[in-house]
Amino acid sequence: MAEKKYGHFDDANREYVITDPKTPWPWINYLGNEDFFSLISNTAGGYSFYKDAKFRRLTRYRYNGVPMDNGGRYFYIKDGDTVWNPGWKPCKTPLDSYECRHGMNYTRITGSKNGVEASVLFFVPLHTWAEVQKMTLKNQTKEVKTLKVFSFAEWCLWNAATDMENFQRNFSTGEVEVEGSTLYHKTEYRERRNHYAFYTVNTEIQGYDTDRESFIGLYNEFAEPEAVMEGKPRNSFAHGWSPIASHYIEVTLQPGESRDLIFLLGYVENEQDKKFSAKKVINKEKAHQLIKKFDTTEKVDAAFAELNQYWDNLLNIFTVKSGNDKLDRMVNIWNQYQCMITFCMSRSASFFESGIGRGMGFRDSNQDLVGFVHQIPTRARQRIIDIASTQFPDGGCYHQYQPLTKRGNNDIGGGFNDDPCWLIFGTVAYIKETGDFSILSEQVPFDNQSGSEVSLFEHLKISMNHIINNLGPHKLPLIGRADWNDCLNLNCFSWDPNESFQTTENKGEGSKAESLMIAGLFVVTGKDYIALCKQLAKEASNCREGEIAGLAEEDYLVEADRMQQAVDAMSEAVKQYGWDGEWFLRAYDFFGNKIGSNENEEGKIFIESQGWCTMAGIGQEEGLCGKALDSAKERLECEHGMVLNNPAYTTYHVEMGEISSYPEGYKENAGIFCHNNPWVIIGETVAGRGNDAWNHYTKILPSYVEEKYQTLHKVEPYVNCQMVAGKDAAKPGEGKNSWLTGTAAWMWYTVSEFILGIKPDYEGLNIDPCLPSTAHEYEVTRKFRGGEYHIVVKNPEGREKGVKQITVDGKVIDGTIIPCSAGKHEVIVQM
Ligand code: GLC
Ligand code: GLC
Repeated sequence: MAEKKYGHFDDANREYVITDPKTPWPWINYLGNEDFFSLISNTAGGYSFYKDAKFRRLTRYRYNGVPMDNGGRYFYIKDGDTVWNPGWKPCKTPLDSYECRHGMNYTRITGSKNGVEASVLFFVPLHTWAEVQKMTLKNQTKEVKTLKVFSFAEWCLWNAATDMENFQRNFSTGEVEVEGSTLYHKTEYRERRNHYAFYTVNTEIQGYDTDRESFIGLYNEFAEPEAVMEGKPRNSFAHGWSPIASHYIEVTLQPGESRDLIFLLGYVENEQDKKFSAKKVINKEKAHQLIKKFDTTEKVDAAFAELNQYWDNLLNIFTVKSGNDKLDRMVNIWNQYQCMITFCMSRSASFFESGIGRGMGFRDSNQDLVGFVHQIPTRARQRIIDIASTQFPDGGCYHQYQPLTKRGNNDIGGGFNDDPCWLIFGTVAYIKETGDFSILSEQVPFDNQSGSEVSLFEHLKISMNHIINNLGPHKLPLIGRADWNDCLNLNCFSWDPNESFQTTENKGEGSKAESLMIAGLFVVTGKDYIALCKQLAKEASNCREGEIAGLAEEDYLVEADRMQQAVDAMSEAVKQYGWDGEWFLRAYDFFGNKIGSNENEEGKIFIESQGWCTMAGIGQEEGLCGKALDSAKERLECEHGMVLNNPAYTTYHVEMGEISSYPEGYKENAGIFCHNNPWVIIGETVAGRGNDAWNHYTKILPSYVEEKYQTLHKVEPYVNCQMVAGKDAAKPGEGKNSWLTGTAAWMWYTVSEFILGIKPDYEGLNIDPCLPSTAHEYEVTRKFRGGEYHIVVKNPEGREKGVKQITVDGKVIDGTIIPCSAGKHEVIVQM
């Protein structure tokens, strides 16, 4: 039976169109891409924050509510006795029409009822600390319509964590000011805060409310605010309790007439000595300026056009034309868009991440930036410096930092032994995209301590050293608290449910717990590091100073040599101690027992080490990679992708930690943890198996899932989610934890560099596709370091891998690297 569909792609407009508000889960979008962010669901639920979803939350949100997704920016339209919302919620009055269009950093929700259409465009203008809500009301009847419009936003008392728990204080601190049509929220401004928020509308209002209880009524729901139901604002003034902002506007529309109302939810910071304009009166100068920038339809339309232009530019850097819509829309639009969002949010704020849990992850952010670096390299550059600044002198790293302070997070600390490698992964991607070696000379502190600065290159070096200095009995990397798999806690041994699996190490001394995932990662990033050193040797000898980041040609060659030995030794150790016969082992536990071996009853095979060791090409000549990939296909693959491990653990294993805490088929216990599927896919491309790579890829490609499984999959069909329930689960195919996942960057990296095969390299673009035999021709346009390359790949014989010849502007080149040069270039690639 065909599944119900809730929406469809509109590629021409770069939108996903939702046609039924009762989606199987709120389908959200993100507004803003720099400092001011909002989450918005298809019914206008969600919230806004400035930079940090925990420490600077502007509007309140209640998680895991009943009903789901309650709270947001709501417009109530009272037309006679009927009260309705353009986004259906919260009143849930049946609408005559409903549509939500999620686009690139904007959302447009349109509803109509009894001959009135209300369309609201939500977006955060570029470089602006505010959310614009442009509402267009249209009278589609032949009669005059008199409407009562109420807006609604509920303020959060800034710190989203204490906002939800410290009521003995919160209920006494709330303060507001009202000036004309602008409602100000200034809680705690009298003391240590130098910021406030406001909600305004570009018209005269006929009333307002700033106190939640007065507006809604203590025992009412969002669906039935007393003020709205009676059609009468209270003009309430909040003192403590819960401050809100609601405008009341009377609108009369002639037949056929339409009218715009522009609402603006903004955020302002003042200098310490300019906080007040009079005793107890906040300085509103900056608010006035901000309001003025968006107080007419023309200004707002211009700002919206600018946002669209910005996305045109970003999405024009890499475009594909393959003849396969499902591929093209992901590559050209949605995958790149999701990469921007993961770059901005890390794992902080989504409808699964509360925004009060995690900050920016060391490993997460390094991976995220690889999906984003081609879009805005300067921002990726800053991110690399910020991340490296949280490293310790021994090469270990804080696992997370808070975006507001950029300081390492002490609650979680360090000790995740894969972390250092990711810094190399991110930095190399940045340099290959930009050719900017100067980043390596940047002076970067340890743990943000000024005075401790060394060059970024030195940070990379100690990152490699950290692995080399922490090898176990099989000369494989010690795992520490966990490697990429946060739930493989081999030194934890916890029987106390109040302990965190990630931060508890009840054993550690004398641990033999080693990771094959880190071993593979080390070989991959080690090879990158060696290539970087060799390139630096060249660059140093060619430049005037004769050195880069304080080192000369000879130093880099010696360093390359040193690392080559370490990489070779690691590859040998993997072959000797990490091969199980048909696949790579996953780890050795605390006692030195095998994990991910055919000898084990459960968890015989894991995906991470198959991915990383095949990407690294370890044992390629001996046939190990091919075997490992076959085993992954045979044992891990199912209809919805590849599961993390197989068979799933059915009981708790204290020596393994959180992985065995999950029911079978979910999360790290045999869920399809999408993030790691691309590792095997890249491994397939390294082995030249284009058909297998493509099959694995399309199983988790959102557009392919969208076509088949909207109800089963549940979560947004236009982006990847972190986890899809695996074959051992009760409901295989059900998705969870959408949006904020390393999957976005990895899917991008995989398709752009390994499948379509357009790989930035130090000297130019390296072309090396790996294709399904059905792919006979496609075109990619790639902007790269000032040049624009129109690349046509011809594959008439349906080869999976192997470039025969490349011509650039009519001339055959040697090898596969297109040298960089400005201007437009025609490239023809023959497979
Ligand atoms: C989560 C974490 C990521 C980790 C992964 C696997 O997505 O954000 O850091 O690698 O889970 O456990
Ligand atoms: C849980 C999750 C894992 C995540 C970790 C860190 O263990 O299962 O995916 O990475 O928490 O927050």
